[in-house]
Amino acid sequence: MIQDPVVIVGSGHSGVAVAAGLRTRGWEGGILLVDAENELPYERPPLSKELLKDGAPDESAVLRKEKFYADKGIGRLAGVTVESIDRNGRTVLLSDGTRQAYHRLVIATGSRARPLTVPGAGLVGVRSLRTRGDALELKRLLVPGARVAIIGAGYIGLEVAAAAAAKGCEVTVLEFQDRVMSRVTSAPVSRHFEQLHERHGVRFVFGAAVTSIDGRQRAERVTVADGTVFPADVVLAGIGVLPNQELAQDAGIDCRDGILVDGDGRTSDPAVYASGDVTRFISPTDGVSRRLECIQNALAQADRVAAHITGQAAGEPEIPWFWTVQHGVRLQTAGVRQPEDQVIVRGEPSCGKFSVVYLRDGRLAAVDTIANLADFRTAKRLIAQGARIDPVLAADPGSPLAEAISGTPNHSDADLAAARS
Ligand code: NAI
Repeated sequence: MIQDPVVIVGSGHSGVAVAAGLRTRGWEGGILLVDAENELPYERPPLSKELLKDGAPDESAVLRKEKFYADKGIGRLAGVTVESIDRNGRTVLLSDGTRQAYHRLVIATGSRARPLTVPGAGLVGVRSLRTRGDALELKRLLVPGARVAIIGAGYIGLEVAAAAAAKGCEVTVLEFQDRVMSRVTSAPVSRHFEQLHERHGVRFVFGAAVTSIDGRQRAERVTVADGTVFPADVVLAGIGVLPNQELAQDAGIDCRDGILVDGDGRTSDPAVYASGDVTRFISPTDGVSRRLECIQNALAQADRVAAHITGQAAGEPEIPWFWTVQHGVRLQTAGVRQPEDQVIVRGEPSCGKFSVVYLRDGRLAAVDTIANLADFRTAKRLIAQGARIDPVLAADPGSPLAEAISGTPNHSDADLAAARS
């Protein structure tokens, strides 16, 4: 009997990686990728960076060439959505009206831009950025002299601010917190990036709660709570994401701001897995329940799902890591900081090369590095080891981060030697 295929919903980084991982791990049954977007699955990082630049080709890199899917016997249904799951019958209902049986179902539906809900949010010229289509539309609007109001100083807002400023736009970023990237980093890193943007002509308004967007046919101005009005030809909302969990939720699968999965990507239904941005899980490194919006997690979870479906052992969990590039400056983060972590600055930010080390109960929990790949690499290893760090030694940029391990009973000499290698 021919087994029903593994059906994967969503062809983002995670969905495609599950398909590829199944083949790498020797899965011989059918694999079917179903995706709402009608194009070859593509890379997301360039959408808010290179793709917006003048002269950049409109195609962002594809994740895999067409031939890969054919060679590996991976079926693709593009421009088709999965409408519902019949868990008892192990079938999904597709938007073309057909039913598709599955042996295992993998939900890799990712997340969507959190919608702006103020009056005027539907005017022409008000955009969000999630897909290649969104990026190309935004690129067309970012012309020299355009007044661009960006709502939200997170990754999207800041990367687009950099691209827009480089194209000669007048950029104002409206953020309701008191600093940039407050969700993901500490004040010293925020300040560094604020100054960087300001040197490139970007203006920030903090504590800004947008109350309306006004204009006749299209956006012309943005008003914030204290009544200040900002003229704008283009408004970009980069105010976070929502997990696309409805498919699972409607099928009665456990969700709580994300589809709940275990370390193998299993949901509350043993035949259904989930992977990538859409999931919430207990982190094996720090025991915290979270969603992780990053490619590293999308790929790592995909590997675990493929391993579990094929009955194989997965690799060791990797420390989450993230990066962003703004005005050519790269911020690399390893681990996930918590607001209450102890913050130690290593080096002088004004020199353009420094790190910020985050300690939780004396152990290295995360690090932000700017132009400091050595610290980034070392920190990944030390976080994985749960290394205890001496704050005074860690603050000395002249001494390697590995030398800041404090001698504790938790670390044998061998541990220390390994960490310092
Ligand atoms: P984000 O969560 O990084 O930042 C959203 C920002 O908007 C926060 O600073 C928040 O305080 C602010 N905000 C929320 N509501 C607001 C409001 N009503 N008015 C003003 N400010 C408001 O989310 P972002 O930038 O939208 O990114 C979306 C997703 O894309 C995330 O998953 C992110 O990780 C991903 N992404 C990652 C990149 C990277 O890793 N380099 C690059 C681009 C996107």
